[in-house]
Formats: sequence, structure tokens, C-alpha cells
Amino acid sequence: MEKCKKELIETALAARKNAYAPYSRFCVGAALLAEDGRIFSGCNVENAAYSPGNCAERTAFFCAVNEGARAFRAIAIAGGAKDETTPSRFCPPCGVCRQVMAEFCDPSEFRILLVKNKDEYREYRLEELLPLSFGPESL
Ligand code: THU
Repeated sequence: MEKCKKELIETALAARKNAYAPYSRFCVGAALLAEDGRIFSGCNVENAAYSPGNCAERTAFFCAVNEGARAFRAIAIAGGAKDETTPSRFCPPCGVCRQVMAEFCDPSEFRILLVKNKDEYREYRLEELLPLSFGPESL
């Protein structure tokens, strides 16, 4: 996991460059580590009609599921204004993305890395950011 963190952080920062965010000008990149070691990246994709837009985290999750991955260890997220080379603040995942994480990840194990740059990041577990979550086991 420690070895993967550097790669996850770099991949999230790189994915941020692909963000399609002409409306908010807030660019987000994510890198999702699957149990099998694969890394899936994602960026936010906005839309002129606004509501069809998708967050970077969900882009990464949906790409991963589409490639057959179902179990995940960690996600790195880097988000900030388009004119910033690297984000000046930490970008926490929105509630909808946290719920998607809860569908596929163990809340006490899954790590969420909020990234400013390769040397500055904060690490949380999903259960800290989404306590008392409603997941598949709740049904
Ligand atoms: N956004 C993300 O992609 N991930 C987050 O964690 C927060 C917000 C996107 C959605 C929208 O395209 C832009 O950032 C501004 O909210």
C-alpha cells in the first residue's frame, strides 16, 4: 500500500489535467486502487445542461467496474481551480461519491487520500467520511 500511494497520487494529479470543466473551472482527478493492484483513473466531466455532469471519483469507479474490478483498497483525489498547477486546498469527495464508495468498499478498510501535491496529502478511512453508511449489507 505504501509503495502504491506515490503512484496513486501522481495518477490523480495527472488525471486532473483531463478534466472537462468549462462551467465550474474546478478540475478534479482521481486514481482508484483495486484489490488486484490495477489503478483506474478518472476526471470530472461537466455538461452544458449541468446535471448530467460526473465527478472524477465516480468516473474512476465506473471505469473500474466496467473492466471487471469489484474490490478496492484506496482512492486518491486531487481537485482545485483550473488555473492552479496543483490544488491549493484538499478536495473532499461529495456525498454521492461517498455512497458509491460504500457500495464497493469496506468502510473500515478503504482509504481516501486527499491530495494537494506529491508531498502533501491527508488520509482518511471511508467510515470517517461516511459514518453509519447504508451499504449492501444494510438490505
Ligand atoms: N467534483 C468532483 O469531480 N469531485 C469532487 O469530489 C467534488 C466535485 C466536480 C464536480 C464538478 O464538475 C466540479 O467538481 C465542481 O463541483
